[in-house]
Amino acid sequence: MEKKELLYEGKAKRLYATENTDQLIAEFKDDLTAFNAEKKGSEQGKGALNCKISTELYALLSANGVKTHLIETLDENHQLVKSVEIIPIEVVVRNTATGSLSKRLGIEDGKVLPFTLVEFYLKDDDLNDPIITDDHCMLLELVDDRAKLDILKQKGLQINRLLKDFFAERRLNLVDFKVEFGIDKEGEILLSDEISPDSCRFWDMDSGEKLDKDRFRENLGNVKVAYEEVLKRILGDVL
Ligand code: TMP
Ligand code: ASP
Repeated sequence: MEKKELLYEGKAKRLYATENTDQLIAEFKDDLTAFNAEKKGSEQGKGALNCKISTELYALLSANGVKTHLIETLDENHQLVKSVEIIPIEVVVRNTATGSLSKRLGIEDGKVLPFTLVEFYLKDDDLNDPIITDDHCMLLELVDDRAKLDILKQKGLQINRLLKDFFAERRLNLVDFKVEFGIDKEGEILLSDEISPDSCRFWDMDSGEKLDKDRFRENLGNVKVAYEEVLKRILGDVL
């Protein structure tokens, strides 16, 4: 499958057309951004690491009944994916308070939440991805039916259950993560975009060390080493 014209360039990926209008090629970039791209950087090999990590996690989710846009991984930083209409809602799932949740509500950093929290953020860089309610989603016509919002929440929780247990077995605490969904031409809601240390927080269960993009956000160094460690834990003995 060959890349044709560039359709879209995001902060971490480029999307290309293919000869099949139902299929696109996603290219994972080495660029790193934070705080709505106010902070920019690059790590050689980061795109390939995220492509591999996301491929593995999508395979796990898919094997457990989560429908995704991924058709196949083509090489170290390209995936063939179904063309979907992305729902402009970032679904954030949190097990432990940190980041913007702690900042906004004053909840102690590192506090384990009494239940899994699901939040919606508007996917709009110009507005700085604000947090939104179900009513805001309806007002902005982000979905055509309120029931879809419950589906997004349920899917977020299902993905969390599967990933949290998977990572716990590998001594990683899945603190929180962000997922996006798209609608294919049959009207099916598919998990889309990537799941990687760019979009998740992982804390080592023994040392508490951060093994995700917070290393870049907070200038902790060893960004690539941390992403490699996450991949190593995912692959276990296979690596
Ligand atoms: P937050 O605490 O900054 O709101 O982030 C919550 C989770 O969402 C965290 O795992 C990082 C992820 N995330 C993204 O993937 N993209 C974003 O633009 C933001 C702000 C967070
Ligand atoms: N993804 C956002 C950015 O690239 C924010 C973040 O992940 O911190 O700026």
